[in-house]
Amino acid sequence: MRKKIVAGNWKMNLNYDEVTSLVDEILRLHSSDNNVEVILSPPFIYLDKVVRSCANHDHVFIASQNCSEYNNGAYTGEISASMLNSIGVNYIIIGHSERRSIFNESNENLNLKITQALQNNLKIIFCCGENIDQRESGEYLQVIKKQLEETILCLDQKSLSKIVIAYEPIWAIGTGKTASSVQAQEIHFFIRSLISDKFGTEISNNTSILYGGSCKPTNSKELFSQSDIDGGLIGGASLKSSDFTAIINSF
Ligand code: PGA
Repeated sequence: MRKKIVAGNWKMNLNYDEVTSLVDEILRLHSSDNNVEVILSPPFIYLDKVVRSCANHDHVFIASQNCSEYNNGAYTGEISASMLNSIGVNYIIIGHSERRSIFNESNENLNLKITQALQNNLKIIFCCGENIDQRESGEYLQVIKKQLEETILCLDQKSLSKIVIAYEPIWAIGTGKTASSVQAQEIHFFIRSLISDKFGTEISNNTSILYGGSCKPTNSKELFSQSDIDGGLIGGASLKSSDFTAIINSF
């Protein structure tokens, strides 16, 4: 059976003291009773600290928000997947719309990062999603299909089992506008069908597909009750321990 997952993407937020108290509060408030895998994704500089703080918490995993598309070497300012593995990071977020649009990451860049992550035994949270024009013109299914066909759907079966997918409509990220549960379920079902067509139903049934985009305690229950929504990738609401733990508890 696929896992229920709630991941907090802290983006470029929080100073050292704020990270310390946020992690402490999440670990204090979170009970592992509901079998939800919790993933925390701090900025690079805090990863080692957060890995250590969460070491004795079985249901808590750590994701990096990015990695270099290159192996180790002369790439000033970059962080490699092998470095992330060496400090105990578990996942890398790849394909977030902010990386695609602000940092011009193409599918080619994403594929290199996917290769780096997999070669270094890291799992991946792979993001996809349409912008508002693509939503309004009705081409959103084609857009998502292309994003996946040119990346993770090219992988082999074993590699795909290391991938968690996050559907994040760009028009809902940080805007306060959430996709309705019906809109989100439509896409999640569609993504699961694409996986099933390529890899079969067993693999598609075992792939966790998260929703992201203004997910908060007031809408998480409704979203997570949909049959193909297996949790969330949470931005803004993951910076407040009470909101984040409320979202974890909304299954
Ligand atoms: P948001 O961000 O929850 O603040 O909309 C989600 C994300 O970008 O992962």
